[in-house]
Amino acid sequence: MGLPLLALVCCALMAWQHCAAEAAKARHFKWEISNMFWSPDCEEKVVIGINGQFPGPTIRARAGDTIHVQLKNALHTEGVVIHWHGIRQIGTPWADGTAAISQCAINPEETFTYRFVVDKPGTYFYHGHYGMQRAAGLYGSLIVDVAEGKEEPFKYDGELNLLLSDWYHESIHTQMVALSSKPFRWIGEPQSLLINGRGQFNCSLAAAHTQGANQCAAAVNTQCAPVVFPVQPNKTYRLRVASTTSLASLNLAIRNHKLTVVEADGSYVDPFVVDDIDLYSGDSYSVLLTTDQDTSSNYWVSVGVRGRLPKTAPALAVLNYGPNRASKLPALAPPVTPAWDDYDHSKAFTYRIRARAGTPRPPATADRRIELLNTQNKMDGHIKWSINNVSMVLPATPYLGSLKMGLKSTLAAARPAETFSRGYDVTLPPPNPNTTVGDNVYVLAHNTTVDVVLQNANALSRNVSEVHPWHLHGHDFWVLGYGDGAYRGDAADEARLNLRDPPLQNTAVIFPYGWTLLRFVADNPGVWAFHCHIEPHLHMGMGVIFAEAVDLVGQVPNEAVSCGATAAALMAGAHL
Ligand code: C2O
Ligand code: CU
Repeated sequence: MGLPLLALVCCALMAWQHCAAEAAKARHFKWEISNMFWSPDCEEKVVIGINGQFPGPTIRARAGDTIHVQLKNALHTEGVVIHWHGIRQIGTPWADGTAAISQCAINPEETFTYRFVVDKPGTYFYHGHYGMQRAAGLYGSLIVDVAEGKEEPFKYDGELNLLLSDWYHESIHTQMVALSSKPFRWIGEPQSLLINGRGQFNCSLAAAHTQGANQCAAAVNTQCAPVVFPVQPNKTYRLRVASTTSLASLNLAIRNHKLTVVEADGSYVDPFVVDDIDLYSGDSYSVLLTTDQDTSSNYWVSVGVRGRLPKTAPALAVLNYGPNRASKLPALAPPVTPAWDDYDHSKAFTYRIRARAGTPRPPATADRRIELLNTQNKMDGHIKWSINNVSMVLPATPYLGSLKMGLKSTLAAARPAETFSRGYDVTLPPPNPNTTVGDNVYVLAHNTTVDVVLQNANALSRNVSEVHPWHLHGHDFWVLGYGDGAYRGDAADEARLNLRDPPLQNTAVIFPYGWTLLRFVADNPGVWAFHCHIEPHLHMGMGVIFAEAVDLVGQVPNEAVSCGATAAALMAGAHL
């Protein structure tokens, strides 16, 4: 019958019909989203919380389960949506939670129910996807265990969860106004890094330990109390680590402990051992750690900034070896984060990520290649990020509903460019810095294989090229390769591609002045965002939209399209 062993045992005890339902569960959650006072780094601010919690509640399920989240928007004056980052939403594109793309934002006092299947075990998270609400603290963990009776391809005794983020003291409203102001006002670096929503501004944890309790609010305020991970000696732990930062690229290390990387973005990878791991916004990993060090001590867990000149102190947590007291100061100093601009270190880590044997392999060739030049540009004096010289703006009516209903008028007639000029010099600021705005919708035919070349380049200022982690909704892609300079598709570039064991991921970085080549199969009808996961960059237009076989999308729930032109069309009797 193909039923897992545990289910068979349960079958012996229950009626057969019960059993089939037992194997995959429906998991119900009732959430209310509201603004609330909170002190993530011991300074009191307003965060967007869920059911009075920050970060939001952890969702834990098994592969194959259906998640039902009945979400009430209790923000007084703003819409809201939640995106389930890394969940492909196969057959349920309207539950992807992207405002203006997959659904209408949920109005204040209204309720929307997300229903979707979590089909793949792995480490995921969820977050707001409207304006910059993620940066206001609207996020939480989503962990999918293997289906009942199945086993992970590695062993461990316990699990630790680390949801990493960064935190600004300015409200997201101030940040959004600054980013779209003329002249431009940069929001600067975050004030704090948070582990599981907790950090300490202006009071390092190490100082709190050495200088005594009175020096630090962290000692008295549980909302920003240092995170302690209790472990037992000589055991192996699975650390689930995910980054939902607004801006920062991170590096995680644990003093004196090696980390074995076993999972990335919900796919198993060929295990490899490192001293520290890089996480770009949108990344998630599982790493195994063995508590094989001197048991008389605790050890520092450190998370620091990479890829930008760090102005934010590392976040620290304590790996607490039992039976030591949690408050016992580690004997050794925290690990030092690699230099922010040591890109060789970053590349060495990223290039080691390979699929574990048994991972689906990519088709040998692609049907289409889309080349996307990432530049910073200007529009009427506003600074924008652009893709092939077009900066993305989202429409009043979400794409999924309007395309499904055939409301062509809601889309720009011109299709975005498939490539950019051959001779473009990626080492210089753009010769034509003037960009336009557009909806950047690429229409993909069903089941075609698409290659995307992400080409990084110099920003507006000389000698500046930033890291951008690109995230694709609705799919995993194979990361075929990375290279420095302009991608030419010549023999040398081809030689850099890995068709043998490329990792399946949903987020991949482009390094400064470099390129990254991704391949995916357009096998999931829907409308999917593909964008830089850095919140201010997305806000400044750094993304495109893939509209995929929308005619094959099933019945879109009315509540997903109850705004703009689709609401008007429904009232006039149109069908979904
Ligand atoms: Cu986690 Cu479109 O993002
Ligand atoms: Cu970016």
